[in-house]
Amino acid sequence: MVTVKEVATGAPAGAGAAALVDAVSPAGIEREAMDHVWIHSQPWLELAERGGLRVFDRGEGSTLWDVQGRDYLDGIAGLWVVNAGHGRAEIAEAMGKQAAKLAYVSASSFTTGPAAQLAHTLAEVTPGDLNRVFFCSGGSEAVETAVKIAKQVQAMRGFPRRYKVIARRGSYHGMTMGAMSLTAMRNEAYFGPFMYGVSHVPHPNRYRSDFGVEGEQADIMAARYVEQEIESQGPDTVACVIGEPVSSAAGVHVPSPVYWQMLREICDKHGVLLICDEVINGFGRTGKLFATEHFGIVPDIITIAKGLSSGYAPIAAAIVRDSVFDTFKDQGEVAMGHLLTFGGHPVCAVAAQKNLEIFAEENLVAQAAEKGEYLKARLEELRAHPTVGDVRGVGLLTAIEIVRDKEAKTSFAKDSAFIKTVNKEIMDRRLITRVWNVIHFAPPLVVTHDEIDRMVTIVDEALTAAERAHAGEFVA
Ligand SMILES: Cc1ncc(COP(=O)(O)O)c(C=O)c1O
Repeated sequence: MVTVKEVATGAPAGAGAAALVDAVSPAGIEREAMDHVWIHSQPWLELAERGGLRVFDRGEGSTLWDVQGRDYLDGIAGLWVVNAGHGRAEIAEAMGKQAAKLAYVSASSFTTGPAAQLAHTLAEVTPGDLNRVFFCSGGSEAVETAVKIAKQVQAMRGFPRRYKVIARRGSYHGMTMGAMSLTAMRNEAYFGPFMYGVSHVPHPNRYRSDFGVEGEQADIMAARYVEQEIESQGPDTVACVIGEPVSSAAGVHVPSPVYWQMLREICDKHGVLLICDEVINGFGRTGKLFATEHFGIVPDIITIAKGLSSGYAPIAAAIVRDSVFDTFKDQGEVAMGHLLTFGGHPVCAVAAQKNLEIFAEENLVAQAAEKGEYLKARLEELRAHPTVGDVRGVGLLTAIEIVRDKEAKTSFAKDSAFIKTVNKEIMDRRLITRVWNVIHFAPPLVVTHDEIDRMVTIVDEALTAAERAHAGEFVA
């Protein structure tokens, strides 16, 4: 094996060899991770003092093993990513073959067979005439790309003042500066000022409606609010509206089809482009290949990432309708003002293509729909807890909401002692998920019924433990 020092200096190592041998023991790998890897969202004390560091080694289906050999149930498919499950050797083999054949050509001027083949597949499987694929590497890039396309197309159609973007409160669209500008929980203190012209409107929330009405009426009010926002901003200044068909970070709210149908009509009426962010929703997560299929609409642009390759390779895309790309055909000398070096990377493209073949062979979308029903039925049992206020979701995009007072629907703060205890109890039982004021359940689509039962039992036990430890901090 080549040592660290040989890589750095080109000379045989000595002490470097010892360092590398040390690094391949579990404790050595963990030490290297502590010393050198910037774990994206963990505060330092969580890693340094509270044992929060986990270094993973391998995966199979819905199970992960860390370098110490401990197994974990992956209740959130990585981060709503690994839809086809861990350990798919056939995807790895396809990637290896492609890397050996051709690993890169410039996305600026050229493309490859695998990218063409994947674009064809995506045009076939996406709703309506979403036929033109702009490839990129991750969800934030896909969102940046979609918004830039909307702005440029508006300008090319003769509306250069249409630059504003309407997003929704509670939404998450990524962490690069443009995508973060649309993300509702953006950190003004560290990163402001953000992209100019972004406003946030209420999103459909039947559990705690902003409008004091229930059920579908709440969704209708939320849709009307979007129209009011377009009108008050001035329709001739708005480029696009963006939202997840089913919200995920915002708390897993499933609107009625009428919400999205109204948004489609409102956007058409005012010449505004409609972007659906399918980064989490897409690729079977909601029990349909794309969540927009639940609502019977075709957006002007969709963004996809995560489940596109089930995480085997960093690949994402913004896909546009014919009517959007026609603007570039009509003005055939004008190119999109956008270039990403790794867009359409052939090794990533074959990973995605193979992933989609597995989807078809194993009927993963239907599996997600069926297992989602089972999971939701099991989650309903958790309502017996005094702190479980709501159970919701569709397919394998589900969540329970934790509340201090069921009657008043008051939330625990995300950093409250109760939520921290629930989080710890779940992690101690080696279930990986996200615990905010909602607990997310979004395992790989290959999850078994037994694994679903285990997930629900672990959360049941964790809630019981937290309710014992924090009696008096909620209404029993
Ligand atoms: C809806 C949505 N859009 C965009 C993103 C950004 O994706 P990425 O982290 O790949 O940049 C995410 C990430 O979780 C997301 O949930």
